[in-house]
Amino acid sequence: MNKILVLNHKSKLDIEEVKSYIKDIKDNIRNDLDVIVMPSMCYLPLFYGRYKFYLGSQNIGFTNSTGEVSINQIKSLNCKYVLIGHSERRILYNETYDIINKKIKLAIDNNIRPIVCIGETIEERKRRKTQDVLLKQIRTIFDGILVGEDIIIAYEPVWAIGTGIMPTVSEVKEIISLIKDFVYRKYGKNIKVIYGGSIDKSSVERFNSIRELDGFLIGGASTDKDKIIEIMNLI
Ligand code: PGA
Repeated sequence: MNKILVLNHKSKLDIEEVKSYIKDIKDNIRNDLDVIVMPSMCYLPLFYGRYKFYLGSQNIGFTNSTGEVSINQIKSLNCKYVLIGHSERRILYNETYDIINKKIKLAIDNNIRPIVCIGETIEERKRRKTQDVLLKQIRTIFDGILVGEDIIIAYEPVWAIGTGIMPTVSEVKEIISLIKDFVYRKYGKNIKVIYGGSIDKSSVERFNSIRELDGFLIGGASTDKDKIIEIMNLI
């Protein structure tokens, strides 16, 4: 089974940088990895082509209103994946679990694979509530949804995003197993679970030993083509 590598560019790179990024990475994608590039929405059309990576959207609008990018538009740009519920959207844009739930339904109804982010805050971790929080998030965001194996969960501790701090190998291993077991018991499905939060070369080397882990979601390092090529070769 191919490992997954999600490259979340967030709002980085300008148009010339994006063009040279595509040129630099397009011939360096390994066939045995599912690499999903998520550029800023405005650059999605530049990635439309016959590349060895998949294209994903960092978000979707669930209404066709001002400033949103609709699911039909994303589909027409050949996006096969969409990131839903990233903590930056939950925290900075007040994206609620109800909105996340609606977006997941929209993606599934349109045959776009949702990559759904869950993760605890530093306060929740300090109060030793990580496991409760994660299971509650799963129950809430999948409420009323027929969970299938097309759904991918990204475990992203909020305190690890962009901070350079991250959980230990054994903590990640325990959480990934917890998520997979819970989803299997509740929905009868084996879903893929990836990790995100301050991933770089050395953490990939460490986390590679976690058999249950299906891949990585990379933010900060994802626009640095040298780092990405190096990381791809380590997975
Ligand atoms: P980071 O971002 O790799 O910069 O921590 C991860 C993310 O935003 O998903």
